[in-house]
Parts: sequence; C-alpha cells; structure tokens
Amino acid sequence: MPVPQFPPGFLWGASASAFQTEGAVDADGKGPSGWDAFAALPGRIKDGTDTTRATGFHDRYREDVALLAGLGADAFRFSISWPRVVPGGSGAVNADGLDFYDRLVDELCAHGITPAPTLYHWDTPLPLEEAGGWLDRDTAYRFAEYAGIVAERLADRVPMWITINEPAEVTLLGYALGEHAPGRTLLFDALPAAHHQLLAHGLAVRALRAAGADNIGAAFSHAPVWTAGDSDEDRFGAELYDTLTNWLFADPVLTGRYPDDGLAALMPGPVTDDLKVISTPLDWYGVNYYNPTLVGAPRPEALETFSGFTMPAELPFGIREIEGYEKTGFGWPVVPEGLTEILTLLHRRYGDRLPPLHITENGCALEEPLADDRRIAYLESHLTALRAAMDAGVDVRGYFTWSLTDNVEWTEGASQRFGLVHIDFDTLARTPKASYAWYRDLIRVQKQQQ
Ligand code: NOJ
Repeated sequence: MPVPQFPPGFLWGASASAFQTEGAVDADGKGPSGWDAFAALPGRIKDGTDTTRATGFHDRYREDVALLAGLGADAFRFSISWPRVVPGGSGAVNADGLDFYDRLVDELCAHGITPAPTLYHWDTPLPLEEAGGWLDRDTAYRFAEYAGIVAERLADRVPMWITINEPAEVTLLGYALGEHAPGRTLLFDALPAAHHQLLAHGLAVRALRAAGADNIGAAFSHAPVWTAGDSDEDRFGAELYDTLTNWLFADPVLTGRYPDDGLAALMPGPVTDDLKVISTPLDWYGVNYYNPTLVGAPRPEALETFSGFTMPAELPFGIREIEGYEKTGFGWPVVPEGLTEILTLLHRRYGDRLPPLHITENGCALEEPLADDRRIAYLESHLTALRAAMDAGVDVRGYFTWSLTDNVEWTEGASQRFGLVHIDFDTLARTPKASYAWYRDLIRVQKQQQ
C-alpha cells in the first residue's frame, strides 16, 4: 500500500526517551530517578533487562545520530533526564549532565537533524519523588526551574520543545494503579498528580519562553474510547474512562477548564488561577497514538487486561479486548482508522483553539527481530490514516515514529520491541530492521515529490 504524499515541509522524525535508552544512570554526577529506584526492586522489570545500561545511548549517541542521518530524518525527539541535569531535583546543576545534552544537540545539528527534546519523560529526580512526587505542588515549580536551566543552555540551537510526556499514563499507571514508578495505588486519590503535572507543564512553557525558547508543545496520549455494550453502566464506564484519559488533560491545556466541575473540585490548590497557567498558549500540540480502547462496565473478565495490567475491581469501568483486528505486542489491536477518528475528534472538540498538531509517537511492538514486515504494514496504514485526517481538515505538521531503536519498554524491559533498529541487549549492537530501510525510502520519496 503506497503512502500518500504529505505536504512540503512536513517533519519526518523518530522518538525515544532517556530512561528507556541512556543507561549510565550514575555517570558524571547523574542523580537517581524514581524509575531507577523502582526498576531496582525485585521483579519490577519483568524480564530482568538491565535498565542501568538500557541501550547504552549515553555512550553511543553518535552511532544513533548516524542511524537517524541514514534515515534522512528531519528531527529526533529524545528526552532530557531531569536528574542528570539537576540531581537533587532542586539546587545545584550538574554541569557534566548538561554538557551531555549540549554534545547531543551539537551532533544532531551537525547532521542537519532538528533536536526536539522532551523535558519530562517520567524520570522524576528521586529526592522529589520521595517527597511526594507529582502529589506535591512543589514538584511543579522545581520542574519549571529545571526547564529554564535547560533552555538557557540550549535554546540557541534547539528549535522545538516538548514539556511533558503522557501525564495520563504517569497518573494512571504510576499513582493510581502502581504498575509504574512510583508504584502508588491511590486510585482516584491520584488525581492531584494530574493537576500538578499540568501545572508543571504550564509553568514550564512560561519558563522556556522567558529563557528564549520557541516552538513549544507537549506530548499527550490520545485514543478513541469505544463503548462496549448498551447498558447505562457501559456508557457511564466508557465516558468516565474517556474523560480521565483524554479530556482531563487536553481540556485544561486547550480551553483552560476541566471537563467537569466535579473533577475540578477534586483538584488541589488555587485551581482557577492554575488553569490560567496550564492554558498558556502552545505553538503546537503533540499526540501519541497506538490504538483505541474498548471500555464498558466493570466485569470480572475485563479486569485483567490493561496492557497486561490488572484493573482493580473498585473502578467503575472495565477494559475489554477489541476483537476482529490483528494484534501486535501487548495484544494491542492494529486500528489505523482510530488515528483518523481521534484526530478529527480533537479538531471538532477544540476548533480554532487546537494549535497545529504533531504525531509525537506512533508505532508497534513486535517480536520479529529483523524482518518486521508487520511493522512496515502498521506504519503504512497509520500514515495513510493520518493523511486522511489531514484531508478532513486537521492541521498536522509532523510525524515521529516510536521508536528509533528497541529500548527498555518500562516494566516489560526488552520483551516489547518498538524499534526500527534492533538492539542486542548483551552486546548493545545496533542492526537496522526492514522497517528502517522502508522508512528511509519513504522519507526520500516524500522529499523528492515535494
Ligand atoms: C508511550 C510512552 O511515551 C513510551 O515511553 C512508550 O515506550 C510507548 N508509549 C510504548 O508503550
């Protein structure tokens, strides 16, 4: 299936994050993150992958930049490790840590690749995590300080910024269900973690601009929520899940309001004033898309699946398996039309308030080591679905596939592999998969036709 032509200037990129790739967790003055501590607990990384080494990106970044250059990629979305730059979470800056990102940015620029750093991809400095992490309002202010420090150093060469990544997953998996760091199981009492991440985002946008940065966005996970069944309980469960995972984050950022007053009332602090900060205008809005979610009333058999996690029975919704579609790793269904659906939904819901979009993540986990034709088919179909949304009027400016290389898929370690490039986790050797050559050719053809 040939991929349709995208407009001139459309940005072709790949994504990654610090914890998932860097390793070198205590090199050159880096402090521990909440994820470093969590991963060190027995059994948390299910396959025992050594997250202290990850893909060795910290020492091998030149190799990976060369791979990006070989792709002809326009941009690389990586993340900056907050505890590498500010090991204590506040106070002293680690000059060596900042130097690492300085070198990485220079290397990307030398190859004509736009550096697009994410400032927070889940690795909270451990001292802040231990003081309450995102449950504590102070974390938001510390994040903004750190954002300003990074921008002071890099804004002269970094033309595109991402504040935070997927606050919904941090809230749900990290603070509500305890499947991710910091392993809290607060269910609905996790909501302050959402508010403080949003506040951190808004404060960081302002700090970045004050330090001379421009072209600022953030990366939010969005997926259509499909309703399982016709009962009132099914509809209630699906709507609540939709609100908690999609609109709880997008509405405050794009409209300055929470999706309903009941939720706003559960948030801590001077919420009305905070919403003014949270809705500080963005230059663009990032969407991470993988697959839709089928949700209904809780049912015993529905409690077991959430990317391999168990949903507690107390929750008023249950996630069901989407049948009739091909499945990739994690059992995630391949539903490209879900991307068209969520993008047109965002466009309808926010109208003129929606800034231009970038797809900041999209890809799939597969077991195939090198002949990953199913990944090629996944990417082809999703790019076609993306183009359909653009034809329907959605303004999308770029696409970053997840991920450049296989990496540490959080608690799944190396057992879920999203890369265009294979990583041998023993030798750290990099071997391009079939999808790497396919993406390279796609980018070349897209540019020739422009
Ligand atoms: C979203 C997260 O941002 C990323 O870190 C993760 O690896 C992918 N989803 C795949 O699960």
